[in-house]
Amino acid sequence: MIAVAVVVGLGPMGRGIAQVLAGAGHTVRVVDATAELGHTGLERIRADGGTGDITAASDVEAALVDADVLIEAIVENMDAKRDLLARVAAAGGPDLLVASNTSSLSVNEMGRAFGAPERLIGLHFFNPPTRMRLVEVIVGAATSDATVKRSMSLVESLGKTAVLCRDSPNFIVNRVCRPLYYEAQLLAAQGVEPAVVDAAARGGLGHPMGPLQLLDFTGLHTHLASSETALREFGDPRYRPIPQVRGLVRGGMTGKAAGRGFYDYATESPRDANSRVVRRPGPAGESTVRVVSCGAPTPALVAELGRLAERGNVVLDSSDGGWLPVLPDGVGWVRLHQRTDGAAFAEVVEDTTARVAVPGFVDELLDHLQAPSVRVPALPGLIVDRLAYCMVNEAVTVVEEGTATADDVDVALRLAMNHPRGPFETLGSAGAVAVHQALLSMTGAFGDPRYRPAQMLRRRALGEARATR
Ligand SMILES: NC(=O)c1ccc[n+]([C@@H]2O[C@H](COP(=O)([O-])OP(=O)(O)OC[C@H]3O[C@@H](n4cnc5c(N)ncnc54)[C@H](O)[C@@H]3O)[C@@H](O)[C@H]2O)c1
Repeated sequence: MIAVAVVVGLGPMGRGIAQVLAGAGHTVRVVDATAELGHTGLERIRADGGTGDITAASDVEAALVDADVLIEAIVENMDAKRDLLARVAAAGGPDLLVASNTSSLSVNEMGRAFGAPERLIGLHFFNPPTRMRLVEVIVGAATSDATVKRSMSLVESLGKTAVLCRDSPNFIVNRVCRPLYYEAQLLAAQGVEPAVVDAAARGGLGHPMGPLQLLDFTGLHTHLASSETALREFGDPRYRPIPQVRGLVRGGMTGKAAGRGFYDYATESPRDANSRVVRRPGPAGESTVRVVSCGAPTPALVAELGRLAERGNVVLDSSDGGWLPVLPDGVGWVRLHQRTDGAAFAEVVEDTTARVAVPGFVDELLDHLQAPSVRVPALPGLIVDRLAYCMVNEAVTVVEEGTATADDVDVALRLAMNHPRGPFETLGSAGAVAVHQALLSMTGAFGDPRYRPAQMLRRRALGEARATR
């Protein structure tokens, strides 16, 4: 069905949304704070290649005549949104669907401000709306099923993929990515070079951009503000901002636009830093190395590694920090990863402080496996599993509390972040027992409750263990 759609607020988001609506054949009326800004906005939409039936209206009241749907993308401020919604309530028809593109404000609060919460919903487009395929559909406590249905078909008419999310701070994508950013920042605060963190995320998880480079790109001040909001909204210390980042922001080192953040852009680009820290494998040869892959150490495993090390070259393949006190002398320590595209990647533990050296035969193994690698300190979970499993834990929490389904979480992360695997796919391939154990181990080794496993993950792990008993 072709709709008459009003888009209010012609910043980058509103302009992109208007362009997508018109491109899909809808009749679009755009409005900004003044008639003049509305016309300028329309000119910019045309200059960006926007085609179709788009006109600028002088104000919201004029735009709303016979309109089916209104999407607001005005400034992210509750008072401004509340004022706008009061005008929309007065001028809009009784069937008008009202959607907000807010990234952080409460859809429930907006529904109350509008006065007809059953017709209000969140449609969270990603930037830029013309290119990003995902739309998070944010359902308020009083949003009606009919409104959800109409919104889903509107999103479908745009050729986008909708995922459903109950109104909750950060929605799906930004929520599940919170621990990715926190852990990356903590790793930097624990002395790991930012380029190493990013190289591990790209090499081990196949992320298109490392989390610290991404934070630099978004702006550390923006991230710090959203962490403060998350901490206040959830009231859980696991969302607390990382002090070192506050220091960077205070010093004006807010990321790429400022020339300096986690990276110093005047000195070396993230791409060059990545090439510097990643060891590329040499020609593939034979390897005589025995690889022992496992999770946490047990006395039997420690004894077996010791016996094998007396007879030949042995490498432990594990990210569990519990190995640090019991690793037998002469044993190499790595964590091998196989990405969804089949490529191999390795973290190699090298830690002068903890006196973990890299025996020469480790490189022989990595050449044999054709695995690029980074050297990482002996921190619990190393880098890749720590980032991945903390995201899994957050994703499980999102499902546990009823915010979204596991399938929608995976779709959302793949489409919005271009992650090759959603967190539940990671959980499926690693197994709940292993992920649960890894989180327990990190909780113990770091002494920080931010790693405590979600109860649903614990139950799933115990269920998995019961099934194989
Ligand atoms: N920028 C992003 O990456 C992004 C992503 C997803 C969602 N969002 C959300 O989308 C919304 C808009 O984001 P943006 O980055 O395009 O914003 P922006 O601040 O760049 O632009 C806002 C526009 O709204 C206009 N405006 C302000 N008050 C108005 C009013 N009362 N009536 C009409 N127009 C008004 C302003 O003149 C401006 O053109 C926000 O709610 C934001 O949180 C932003």
